[in-house]
Amino acid sequence: MPEILKLLHEDHVKVKNLFKDFEKAEDAETKKGIVDAASIELMAHTQLEEELFYPAIRKEGEEAAMLIDEAEEEHHVVKFLISELAGMKPNMPRYDAQFMVMRENVEHHIQEEESAVFDQAEEMGRERLERMGEQFMERKEKVQAEMMRSRRRAA
Ligand SMILES: [Fe+2]
Ligand SMILES: [Fe+2]
Repeated sequence: MPEILKLLHEDHVKVKNLFKDFEKAEDAETKKGIVDAASIELMAHTQLEEELFYPAIRKEGEEAAMLIDEAEEEHHVVKFLISELAGMKPNMPRYDAQFMVMRENVEHHIQEEESAVFDQAEEMGRERLERMGEQFMERKEKVQAEMMRSRRRAA
């Protein structure tokens, strides 16, 4: 069973690849599809980090707790930027600018998470990271299915 850091990294790569696809997208519909896919991925990913991963790291001490405070604030900003994008049409003049700000925020967050936060997580030991990985995979399927359902209801 893969440990949680590997699974989180895989999600990060997936989102960064979607961001690169956006650069190549030529029409509004393609852009919207990419933003929707990245949004669902990010909403599920951040929710699961906050449920399973961050609380465990927070317990590791004062410095760890500060890292998690910062990470949670960054999540908060990203979620806000995603909700604003969801309310915009991809042919609006500022859509691309709004997307770029969201992208920069996410990429900055990923960079810090994979260095400082992952370093802190390594201290928890392989066994715990593997157990968290199992929980992450189980919950992720459910959370994403729920998100798709509520999105369809809203449409
Ligand atoms: Fe992450
Ligand atoms: Fe995160």
